[in-house]
Amino acid sequence: MSKQGTPATLLRIFPYAKSALPRIALGMLAALGGHMLALTIPQVLRDLINGLKNIGTVEALLPLVFIVLGLGLLEAVMVLLRRWLVLTPGTHVEAGMRAKLYAKLQDLPVAFHDKWPSGQLLSRATGDLSLIRRWLSFGLVLLVANGITLIVGFVILIGFNLTLGIIYFAISVPIWVIGFNFEKKYHTTARLSQDQAGDLATSVEQSVHGIRVLKAFGRGDHAAGKFATDALRLRGTELKKAGLIGNLWLYLILIPEFAVGISLFIGIGLVADGQMSVGTLVAFLATTTVLRWPTESIGFLLSMTIDATSAVQRFFEVIDAPVDITDPEHPRAVAVSKGRLEFKDVHFKYPDAAPESPDLLDGINLVLEPGESVALIGVTGCGKTTLTALATRLYEVTGGSITLDGVDIRELTRDDLRSNIAMAFEDATLFSSTVRENVLLGRPDASDADLDQALEIAQAKFAYDLPDGLDTTIGEEGMSLSGGQRQRLALARAVAAAPAVLVLDDPLSALDVDTEAMVEDALRTVLTATTALIVAHRPSTVQLADKVALMQNGKITAFGLHSELIAVNDHYRFVISSLDAAGNQISVEDEVN
Ligand SMILES: Nc1ncnc2c1ncn2[C@@H]1O[C@H](COP(=O)(O)OP(=O)(O)O)[C@@H](O)[C@H]1O
Ligand SMILES: [Mg+2]
Repeated sequence: MSKQGTPATLLRIFPYAKSALPRIALGMLAALGGHMLALTIPQVLRDLINGLKNIGTVEALLPLVFIVLGLGLLEAVMVLLRRWLVLTPGTHVEAGMRAKLYAKLQDLPVAFHDKWPSGQLLSRATGDLSLIRRWLSFGLVLLVANGITLIVGFVILIGFNLTLGIIYFAISVPIWVIGFNFEKKYHTTARLSQDQAGDLATSVEQSVHGIRVLKAFGRGDHAAGKFATDALRLRGTELKKAGLIGNLWLYLILIPEFAVGISLFIGIGLVADGQMSVGTLVAFLATTTVLRWPTESIGFLLSMTIDATSAVQRFFEVIDAPVDITDPEHPRAVAVSKGRLEFKDVHFKYPDAAPESPDLLDGINLVLEPGESVALIGVTGCGKTTLTALATRLYEVTGGSITLDGVDIRELTRDDLRSNIAMAFEDATLFSSTVRENVLLGRPDASDADLDQALEIAQAKFAYDLPDGLDTTIGEEGMSLSGGQRQRLALARAVAAAPAVLVLDDPLSALDVDTEAMVEDALRTVLTATTALIVAHRPSTVQLADKVALMQNGKITAFGLHSELIAVNDHYRFVISSLDAAGNQISVEDEVN
């Protein structure tokens, strides 16, 4: 959390709010104008009452009556004008900030998303931003308008009667002190409640997402219990907030009431002594009534400003997060990649791994010649998935380098790199849109023939038989499809991208053996032209590749033909024998030799 003060933090939204400021400033003027009109009404009242005594006829006073009425009407118009002026610009600022946040979330590396719960991001994009909008179009406008009104009001009171004005002012001063103390306490509580709301959103998001697992394991009650605990905690914090506000209001109402009482008491004495006219006393009291709302609202507006400050802080926590996987300043261009992929002494360690532990990837050396397909095998957890993620810079190597056609991948733009290397992951994420859009994600302009070929290769032609064919919307995460169908669409997506290099992280694990054989047959025809790195969990997948690389203790310890390695390498034989036809695999912990 930043240590900046409230004004400095709030100033940071200036770039986003710039275009809205003229209307917001006009809104402030309208609000101020309304208050000023209200402040002139007591002046007319004074003349009205003092006139009663001198003139004696009601008709002569009629113009003054109409002036009061007119002023009241004008004040109402000003309120309307303020609302009309400030409501729209706030929504533009909110939309702009939300778009910026979303773009940033897309830009941030995977490591950021590993660390940040989705609910925290969700609550920033929704709750926090709408709070900032309300503050801009309501809180800020009234804080300025009411603040100035208070100052002008006190000057007018002093003009009516110096002694009374000073007394009223002196009695009102504690309100500022109380407001100030309130600010400090409220700040921490407001921040806590926003964080807890974020946690709650995470817990909802996770249990909706994992509803099948929760139901299958009968853990619904447990999840509900955890939710209730979190919700109770948030409720406690909200109650504390409400308590603080309630406390503030007690003083905000009590003190002005007290001030009016004292002023009235002393004022009547002054009138009796002939030092003040009745009209002036009435005008004085009427003015304090006009100042009532600005006085009371200051505390509320301050608390809103504090809420907005922590919302702005939370927004910038994401915006300021470093994007450490960036495009180079002077990117090298790859026209059409030949597809030579080389890992040179690649080291990698996850940021949250224990500092004393060895690197997960501890000097990987591996060359994939253009058009060559290489199967990568090794026990579960040895870092195969991690290595594939490095090739498209989902994570950044911590040592060594990866080159595409001899160019360090860090010298390419991420777009360039990722259009040349396509990936299919073991857990096939499908978006809630049509089959066509899902498959053509990496190459939206591909022809129908290309699309058809990709579906053919991935054995995903079942898509044509869906209710609306390729235009069928598949549910969130493709839930209405089977695991095998989802995997085949995800594979079709990688193939349709027509990349120079295809990286497949065990893309066939959910397929039955027959379908897998068909996919492999089809892939063989594509892979002749495409360089492929395939993480394999089945012996049949291994046989699909030209060469096999064996990964062990963070290194490639053997590389060559399957037939050679099986003959000479003990560990290779061990790993292969642990891959049964069903794709079950032994893990590091079970490893015996
Ligand atoms: N996002 C991550 N953050 C931290 N550690 C991770 C992350 N992903 C994987 N790991 C760890 O890295 C190791 C290698 O994982 P992985 O590359 O998925 O292995 P494999 O694909 O060979 O089974 C595992 O011990 C795993 O716990
Ligand atoms: Mg894996």
